[in-house]
Amino acid sequence: MSISMVRSQSNPPSTMPDENVISVSQALRTRRSVRAFSNQYLDDTLVSEILQTASAAPSWGNVQPYRVAMASGELCDEVRTALVTKYRQATAVKNGSLMKKLTALLKGGVLPDGDYKTLLKYPRELNDRYFATGKGLYDVLGISRDDRKGRESQMARNFCFFDAPTVLFIFCEGSLGPYGPLDAGIFVQSLLLAAQEQGVDTCVQGSVATWASPLRKHFDVLRSSCSSKPVHYC
Ligand SMILES: Cc1cc2nc3c(=O)[nH]c(=O)nc-3n(C[C@H](O)[C@H](O)[C@H](O)COP(=O)(O)O)c2cc1C
Repeated sequence: MSISMVRSQSNPPSTMPDENVISVSQALRTRRSVRAFSNQYLDDTLVSEILQTASAAPSWGNVQPYRVAMASGELCDEVRTALVTKYRQATAVKNGSLMKKLTALLKGGVLPDGDYKTLLKYPRELNDRYFATGKGLYDVLGISRDDRKGRESQMARNFCFFDAPTVLFIFCEGSLGPYGPLDAGIFVQSLLLAAQEQGVDTCVQGSVATWASPLRKHFDVLRSSCSSKPVHYC
């Protein structure tokens, strides 16, 4: 998550519309996923304000079954390097010989180790939409369908967090059936809108959850959550 423009708001939010504050409708209409971030430092106070606003999101029983971890600076760089390395290794195996695949399987450490599958098989109609969105993105970037290297490089940008200087990882309680992710989803959307209000651009990235080990190393939440089976995404 990165900032494109900062507008500091030192006063607590008012219930009366302020002319400098965008409406919820404006935030909804103007928010979009940004995939090229500046390296402009995002102030911790601003992130904390955004999180506080988002934490007003509703959840079943008001239990708020999610946690947030933040990475910026060196930590963010360390996590992005680890994730890109995982992606590059996995891609080399995928494109490699059967022997390479078998060796990687036996050696371990390359295959996705996230808490759930991030590559899904969509039903036909949804698959068409999924492909149309992907094609739209690659067309804009000038990457053709048969340009495997180009596509892989663009995919790798996900694991760099598109160079965002600040990343929030959302961890969600895994034992609540659909309600954990539902509550977390409402929270995430609230977060995006609160960020939008503050002039902070964002991109939700489910793909980053493909590997959990680079996060486990740094964030206790994955090890010592109250959850029997925590899931995470960011
Ligand atoms: C749960 C979720 C996961 C997503 N994962 C990714 C991702 O891994 N990479 C990415 O570039 N965009 C990702 N997106 C962004 C969507 O592609 C984007 O929201 C959608 O295409 C609509 O575009 P908009 O956000 O600009 O309105 C994700 C969005 C959501 C809600």
